[in-house]
Amino acid sequence: MTDHFRFVHITDTHIMAGGAWRMRGTDVDFDTDASLRRVVDTVRRLDPAPAFAVLGGDLTSPDLLHRDRVLEPTEYASSYMRLKEILAGLPCPAHYLMGNHDNLEAFNRALRPQAAKDAPAYYGFDHGGMHFVALDSHEPGHADGMLDAAQFAWLERDLAARRAAATIVFVHHHPWPLGHAWMDTMQLRNGADLMSLLGRHAQVRWLIGGHVHSEQVIQRGALTMLTTPSTCIQLAKVGGPVHFEPGPPGFRVVDVDDGRLSSYVVYVR
Ligand SMILES: [Fe+2]
Ligand SMILES: [Fe+2]
Repeated sequence: MTDHFRFVHITDTHIMAGGAWRMRGTDVDFDTDASLRRVVDTVRRLDPAPAFAVLGGDLTSPDLLHRDRVLEPTEYASSYMRLKEILAGLPCPAHYLMGNHDNLEAFNRALRPQAAKDAPAYYGFDHGGMHFVALDSHEPGHADGMLDAAQFAWLERDLAARRAAATIVFVHHHPWPLGHAWMDTMQLRNGADLMSLLGRHAQVRWLIGGHVHSEQVIQRGALTMLTTPSTCIQLAKVGGPVHFEPGPPGFRVVDVDDGRLSSYVVYVR
């Protein structure tokens, strides 16, 4: 038995302190701070309120302001501080995932100050009789994702120890192709290995991801993956001269009732 509770999945916030996201192929500058503030304001109006939020990766991306070079961890610090300041408005605690635009050292310093600066950002937590797993698919210097051997070994142990608890896994990159040619060049490279591992643990029935800046539902056997749109720019699902569209900002609400899920996406117009 599990309790009734609600959580929200908020992803691809792409905070870049001191700048705006120039959408490639356009002359549009998108203010990712302002759009996240609108999402947080909307989350505050949810009734019932969420028990917690999961931030699904690509939390900051000052790298998009400097595409010509690799940034130092210290150059991410002001963006993580800005993120924390905006998320302080949430009505609930938050759990954080890494995305391909994040920096592990800056992420740990800002969001997990008790952790070593190079501590891996994968972990589990429990709520209301359910188990939750946050994976770290970030590989420095790569837009696509990867889970290393140590993370697979940890995940196997974590799930084996909690076979009785219905489990939701969060991961930034999509482990299956979405059918979107450009985005499918940036998926989780060893997604098949993840699916094989999860397939041996029947208590895992849902994955929730970000990265694709769009709302998707994908099912393979007993596993259902939900993806959540970004809080800023969205992927254009129909091909055209540009890959992205300027909003609307979105996030996902998940209601859990005795191990069953209901979920919807809210767009902030
Ligand atoms: Fe993203
Ligand atoms: Fe991403």
